[in-house]
Amino acid sequence: MEGLKKSFGRQIIWEDVTFTIPAGQISALLGPSGTGKSVFLKNLIGLLRPDRGHVWVDGVDVPELHERRLHDLRRRFGVLFQDGALFGSMSVYDNVAFPLREHTKLKEHRVREITMSKMELVGLLGAENKLPGEISGGMRKRAGLARALVLDPEILLVDEPDSGLDPVRTSYLNQLFADINAETGATILIVTHDIGTARVLPDNLGLLFRRGLVAFGPREMMLTSRDPAVTQFFNARREGPIGMAEEKDAAALGLEDAGWHATAKPAPIPPQIMPSSGRPRPFQQRPGRWLQAHGLQAPPGSFIDDEGRDWLVDWDRLTRR
Ligand SMILES: Nc1ncnc2c1ncn2[C@@H]1O[C@H](COP(=O)(O)OP(=O)(O)O)[C@@H](O)[C@H]1O
Ligand SMILES: [Mg+2]
Repeated sequence: MEGLKKSFGRQIIWEDVTFTIPAGQISALLGPSGTGKSVFLKNLIGLLRPDRGHVWVDGVDVPELHERRLHDLRRRFGVLFQDGALFGSMSVYDNVAFPLREHTKLKEHRVREITMSKMELVGLLGAENKLPGEISGGMRKRAGLARALVLDPEILLVDEPDSGLDPVRTSYLNQLFADINAETGATILIVTHDIGTARVLPDNLGLLFRRGLVAFGPREMMLTSRDPAVTQFFNARREGPIGMAEEKDAAALGLEDAGWHATAKPAPIPPQIMPSSGRPRPFQQRPGRWLQAHGLQAPPGSFIDDEGRDWLVDWDRLTRR
């Protein structure tokens, strides 16, 4: 993304957005609601056009593409929209199979094999014949995810996959993303406001706020950042520039300011989710690596999991080869 700006009429959603989503890694984009996260995803795949700026995918500038080339490019993307965006009059099965029928010439029995395997992956076997209106919101989300996965995308974009899911399903889903990245090397961008997910899953984190990208960088950088908005958001604190109504006014901030610096210490960094195989993902970094490279200490208690294992010390033993 380079110098990206999007507005609707006179409302600027964000501008000067410049950053690179590292290929083959898992990244997450966060921000208070209404900051234009969904709009951002739509700009990436050419469903919306930015006012200015570039979206480079392998040297191709997406906003410049015409319908035909856009259609070809989208074949490489899997997208889960915030609302699932299923066709209401089609069965769940037909919804999931849709991209295969649209983009490939596969025989129906192959379509069936792939569709059923992705439905199994997201835990939807048995719901094939239901209509989207007959299943729960969480199931619609998972159906949308199965559909995003059927073409084995190089780039997977998911908009709030975890909203409306219970914590157990959310951890299954996070495990699934770690496994997909480990197995296929897909570049994954997750839009979420679940801080739990943001702290344990991605390799990189970004924060949209106040009509721009506040910061984007490696997980350890963002989780130890002293930027007030970043610290507040990733530690779910009340103190900071983000308020109930999006932004706090100067008076409210002034009142907090005195206490702010005392509480600005980042919380311990949790260990990252490992693929089910137990082997690190291709681009997964050893815990503490970024901090060490920058001469920084991890906050006390970092990289210790629920069972008390210290991933910083025991990385080689815990990631059996
Ligand atoms: N097609 C559209 N036309 C006009 N305004 C829009 C459109 N889509 C989104 N918006 C506005 O853009 C802002 C950002 O929306 P959205 O990307 O959905 O936020 P988020 O996903 O971060 O919660 C909102 O104020 C929303 O009303
Ligand atoms: Mg949204």
